[in-house]
Amino acid sequence: MNILDLRCEYRLNPLGIDVRKPRLSWILASSRRGARQTAYQIAAALDDVYILQGKPLLWDSGKIESDQSIQVPYDGPELQSRQRVYWRVRVWDEDDHASEWSSPAWFEMGLLDSDDWGAQWIGNPLVGGPRSPVPSPFFRKEFSTGGELQSARLYITSLGIYEASINGIRVGEDVFAPGWTDYDKRIHYQTYDVTNNLENGLNVIGVIIGDGWYCGHIAWQGRQIYGDRPKLFAQLEIRLTDGSIQTITTDETWGTNVGPILESDLLMGEAYDARLELSSWNLPSRSGRGVEGWSPAVSFPHPEGAVLVAQNTVPVRAQEELTPIAEPTLLWGWPNHDWIFDFGQNLVGRVRLKVRGERGKTILLRYGEMLDENGTLYTENLRSARQTDYYTLKGDPDGETYESRFTFHGFRYVQVNGLTETPTSDLLTAIVLHSDNSNAIEFECSDPLVNQLQHNIRWGWKGNSVDVPTDCPQRDERLGWTGDGQVFVKTATYLTHSASFFTKWIQDLADAQFDYGAIPSVAPVIPSLKKSDGGAAWSDAFIIVPWTVWQQYGDRRILETHYDAMCRYMDYLTENSPGLIRMLPGEKELIKGKEDEQIGGYGDWLAQDGSSDRRGLTPKDLIGTAFLAYDAKLMAQIASAIDKTDDADRFKQLFKDTRSAFIKRFITSDGLVVGQTQTAYILALYFDLVPEDLHSIISAALLKDIEVTRKTHMSTGFVGTPYLTQVLTDIGRVDLAYALLLQKSFPSWLYSVIHGATTIWERWDGWTEENGFQDPGMNSFNHYAYGAVGTWMVENITGIRTDPKNPGFKHILLRPVITSEMSFARCAYQSPYGPIRSHWYTEENAMIWEVSVPANTTATAQIPIRAGTQIHEDALPIEESPGVTFIRKTPELAVYKLQAGSYKFEIGK
Ligand code: BGC
Repeated sequence: MNILDLRCEYRLNPLGIDVRKPRLSWILASSRRGARQTAYQIAAALDDVYILQGKPLLWDSGKIESDQSIQVPYDGPELQSRQRVYWRVRVWDEDDHASEWSSPAWFEMGLLDSDDWGAQWIGNPLVGGPRSPVPSPFFRKEFSTGGELQSARLYITSLGIYEASINGIRVGEDVFAPGWTDYDKRIHYQTYDVTNNLENGLNVIGVIIGDGWYCGHIAWQGRQIYGDRPKLFAQLEIRLTDGSIQTITTDETWGTNVGPILESDLLMGEAYDARLELSSWNLPSRSGRGVEGWSPAVSFPHPEGAVLVAQNTVPVRAQEELTPIAEPTLLWGWPNHDWIFDFGQNLVGRVRLKVRGERGKTILLRYGEMLDENGTLYTENLRSARQTDYYTLKGDPDGETYESRFTFHGFRYVQVNGLTETPTSDLLTAIVLHSDNSNAIEFECSDPLVNQLQHNIRWGWKGNSVDVPTDCPQRDERLGWTGDGQVFVKTATYLTHSASFFTKWIQDLADAQFDYGAIPSVAPVIPSLKKSDGGAAWSDAFIIVPWTVWQQYGDRRILETHYDAMCRYMDYLTENSPGLIRMLPGEKELIKGKEDEQIGGYGDWLAQDGSSDRRGLTPKDLIGTAFLAYDAKLMAQIASAIDKTDDADRFKQLFKDTRSAFIKRFITSDGLVVGQTQTAYILALYFDLVPEDLHSIISAALLKDIEVTRKTHMSTGFVGTPYLTQVLTDIGRVDLAYALLLQKSFPSWLYSVIHGATTIWERWDGWTEENGFQDPGMNSFNHYAYGAVGTWMVENITGIRTDPKNPGFKHILLRPVITSEMSFARCAYQSPYGPIRSHWYTEENAMIWEVSVPANTTATAQIPIRAGTQIHEDALPIEESPGVTFIRKTPELAVYKLQAGSYKFEIGK
């Protein structure tokens, strides 16, 4: 067995972590059937030579009889600040044969104690106002090394978003660091290995800070939400060959200045005047005394109550580049020349402009997702987000290049104004920015429209994972809406390695929790939503998201970390749900004793059920009570996963009681569900809130509404849609689930696809043939929520799903739901144990199904059959196939347990 992909806290060789007992994982690769681990041994050392020679060791786990190969906590001596720990692992297989040692990996600790920091917060004297931005400050510090360099680390963060350089060379590749947290509570710092940036002798560290989330616009709230100006906090530690450490920290000896970035704002855009560039500002001055025109930085106290913690998530990075799909078109020629560039893909990021022109002339770049019927850029849906960059040329005869630093836009089209010559398409390149959640899936099926839908789901996730999972990336919102996040989280885990990303966001939710236990509708929370309970299906993200991360990654620690806070949330819900009927306020502060008047929440947001209200027709208290029951059910599983048996019993009881309350209040004895909307039926069925004897009546009512009343269309909004196709599959109507998936007429997933969508739209009716664009006040073309059908697609079309009883894909359920609508489907999914593959296709009279089960896991395969179907595996009758054990048979399914390995089933007549 080969041991690959050694990770620590989900990352490859993470630098600067502050987890005291970091978790280690590895992947076992073997083509042998039944390959599994029966024991492991981890060795750790403080030096890369020591680890290879096996001594001296910091920690030797010894041989541990265990099949655990993910989420294994480091258990050696207490880790110290700055320590770099090299580790490797070997395993014993099912025959007790020891493997070779793996290649070593490492992790490095950051600064664990506040005493480790000697830096001060510094800023520039210039302050803007709630409406008036000021130029982005520059900071520089010149210093000489006190001896010969060995290695160096930069520990750095800012309030605002920074870009650092040493001797003119950019430090790292991260974009928008330190990202968005509630800065009043928590500030992430980053650690960089800057050994190669430094020279022996004179050096300069330079940092530019944009307003970012700290003091730029957030949503509709104006500027300066957290503070009045950007600030910097940095500590450069240089280890010299004589063993001494030289430390350079931010303080008032740093110089500050302003330069070409006249405005930088995440929502509004950037204004850059290249004539104001500060030449050589981040290079050592000849004199060593600095450069002229810089004033001393001003120091500030540490923000009270905020903890400095090591970044625990993946950084935002430039991920790919796109070029326009055609030559630009001239929109109008007078009084200005306006050109439209089309990137063919609704994306999130910035552009690189390569241009030559007259000094002092300004080029305007305006970004939008759509064109209107006149071919003009459609920007009404951006609301107050200006999404415009201005670049003023310095007039370089060789041409000049501009890329914004501290803003991002949601766009497919760019309108360029201010050019004096006819441009060609190479004027602009689009740079796609998002959190570095690496791809986890290859998915393809025989239906090109479904493949386009999958593409759109993926791009919706790319654009809405910019440090925080956001609702949309373009208008003046871009918030971590809890409802959207819980709806999409599982699909996100099927698209990318998302565990660190959500670990960070769950902490944002915990930071946003009110002292009385409620959870708001956005995290990080913003001032206008600071006092309102997020309401059903929104605030429940605090239970659903950690539960999902545990299910998909086997991460128990996330449950342990937040368990008490989750219990406080549950207490708050039950205390405020009289008779276990949940009627929580959505946008108002909860007033005890007046709950009845405050039935709120966002309902079944944007449902197409005939309601004139965005909140849909499904009663809010029905949604609330259904989610209370669901939370209780998940909490029972969570409590037992972390060995809190008494609590598990308590939550099981709470589920039962809430279920009874739900049935009593919302279901009549002849099977009528209050509201009679698709979402009401779906929630009752999916959350197991239907009395056994009424199951078929309620299912029939749902089917009737879909098939007869709405002629095979859904009417569901954010709340019902994610479960719709799964409920239909569970009640034996997978044909109808497929019919809805493949439905092309409005409202449907494919309606936007056949009208050229390249991302998921916020609304089913974002644009329709009949009415054109929806209300621009609420019409994003890049909103991932309805993309949550992606989970059903992976789990049913290709048949790969986690087994709730064995989280993290330790045991895999394989069950493709074959349809005559498709002739093949294939998927390779990178699970925590390695790639799981499922590929089915039809061949003459047989169906072929190839699967791979990673080493150290097992699977249950449910093979679709009809009467008399013969099954062969690799040309042998299945009964004789090694690694396959028969479990049971029904008229439609033959069920087998599979050991790890690759299989080819031939399912014939
Ligand atoms: C957001 C949604 C969000 C909703 C709450 C909207 O403005 O874009 O996606 O969940 O508000 O109802």
